[in-house]
Amino acid sequence: MKKVKKVVIITGGTSGIGLEISKIYKNNGHIVCVLAYDIERDDDANSLYSCDVTNEMQVKDCIEKIGKKYGKIDVVVNCAGYGLAGALELTPTESAKRQFDTNFFGTYCVNKYAIKFMKENSCIVNLASACALFALPYRGLYCSSKVAVDMYSKCLRMELAPSKINVISICPGDVKTNFSKNRVKVFQTNDRYGDSIQKSIAKAESNQEKRMEPNKVAKKIVKLASKKHTKPMYIIGTKVKFLYFLSKFLPQKAMLKLINKKYGKK
Ligand SMILES: NC(=O)c1ccc[n+]([C@@H]2O[C@H](COP(=O)([O-])OP(=O)(O)OC[C@H]3O[C@@H](n4cnc5c(N)ncnc54)[C@H](OP(=O)(O)O)[C@@H]3O)[C@@H](O)[C@H]2O)c1
Repeated sequence: MKKVKKVVIITGGTSGIGLEISKIYKNNGHIVCVLAYDIERDDDANSLYSCDVTNEMQVKDCIEKIGKKYGKIDVVVNCAGYGLAGALELTPTESAKRQFDTNFFGTYCVNKYAIKFMKENSCIVNLASACALFALPYRGLYCSSKVAVDMYSKCLRMELAPSKINVISICPGDVKTNFSKNRVKVFQTNDRYGDSIQKSIAKAESNQEKRMEPNKVAKKIVKLASKKHTKPMYIIGTKVKFLYFLSKFLPQKAMLKLINKKYGKK
């Protein structure tokens, strides 16, 4: 039987998890459309679309171009995102809004315009994070934006269920990508926080070598996106799975204390 070529849109597909996902789909002969806001290469012009996911008009134009060109969209993977670290009190509001504009509204806009080209058995994958499951000090805006992505995914899943369009939220633990390097850090402090912000960020960026390989995470995501029946949310990473299991039994107060001991004020 002839294999059906899927039309796949990947945001943030020029780096990390998104790049690995795009390689898998390409190697399997699918049509891969990568939305990236910093296109310097022009080696595969057909599949690279210049698009900042925070710019609604660019997103709309890109998705409509793809939808009209191929007549359908089978898979959307929202990987575009970055981290923001710093004390909630001292982070500039502009930076806080930018975090939500990219991580949450970027995902929201891409899906909003893609849905009309999606038919039965197509799938939307939204990259949330383990940070959507556990509160972390000095990463409050990132955590909040990913909680929003996860909740939004579950709501969208219900709305699209009658159309048989699947929606999955993915919550990975630490992955070996440019994510730490690209994290926006607000080191500003005062007497209340002292050097705990800096220490907490350093802790978050340690143990790079122990992180999951992005190609392994990508393989799991691609497999899930092809399944007919899925759960609304998947956790990737043994450590995070264990912590999540623990959080089902421990009182929230104890859970916060445990995490704060590791990442909070010393
Ligand atoms: N790595 C982890 O430990 C981890 C864990 C849990 C969840 N996640 C989530 O997984 C997703 C992928 O992250 P990653 O680890 O693969 O990090 P990454 O290597 O930094 O990739 C992020 C991608 O998003 C793109 N991007 C950022 N802002 C954008 C914008 N406004 N418009 C278009 N593209 C934009 C980046 O483009 P440029 O390269 O051009 O800047 C990059 O291609 C993110 O949503 C992240 O929050 C990551």
